[in-house]
This record gives sequence, C-alpha cells and structure tokens, in this order.
Amino acid sequence: MIEVRGLASGASTHYPYGTMDLGTNLLTWLRRQGVTIASSCDGEGVCKRCTIQNAWTTCEMTLGEFLERCPEGTILVGYL
Ligand code: FES
Repeated sequence: MIEVRGLASGASTHYPYGTMDLGTNLLTWLRRQGVTIASSCDGEGVCKRCTIQNAWTTCEMTLGEFLERCPEGTILVGYL
C-alpha cells in the first residue's frame, strides 16, 4: 500500500499497487488514483509544483523509484 498524507490537513489515504505499477510515472499513477497533484507544466519537469516530501518532483520518477527512496511508501504532500 502507498499512503498519501496531506501535511496541511493531516489526512491520509492508502492506495494499493501492483508490480506492474512500479514502472509508471509517479505523477501519472497518483492521478489515476484520484489524488490531486499540483502542476502547471503537466509533467515537463519545469514548474516544480508536483513536489512531494518537500524535495522530489513526482513527474520525474516512477513509483518504483519512489519506493527505492522511501521504502515505507508514505507520500507527503504539503498542500493537501
Ligand atoms: S508537473 Fe511540473 S515539475 Fe512536475
């Protein structure tokens, strides 16, 4: 399970994933789950609005790369 935790609201939601999802772009995967991720460049890596953990842009990593960096699977979104 991936946990998406909003730092503004304190709310969190868990989303299941499968091995076929690991190569999916993280921004795309989050949008498929219905998570609203800010973006004004639509994944071009320019706007930096899709940032999680106050550091990483979701459009520039896959779900699998995120889990390598953050094995506990908790995505922190500042504005949610
Ligand atoms: S969507 Fe703009 S940098 Fe990720």
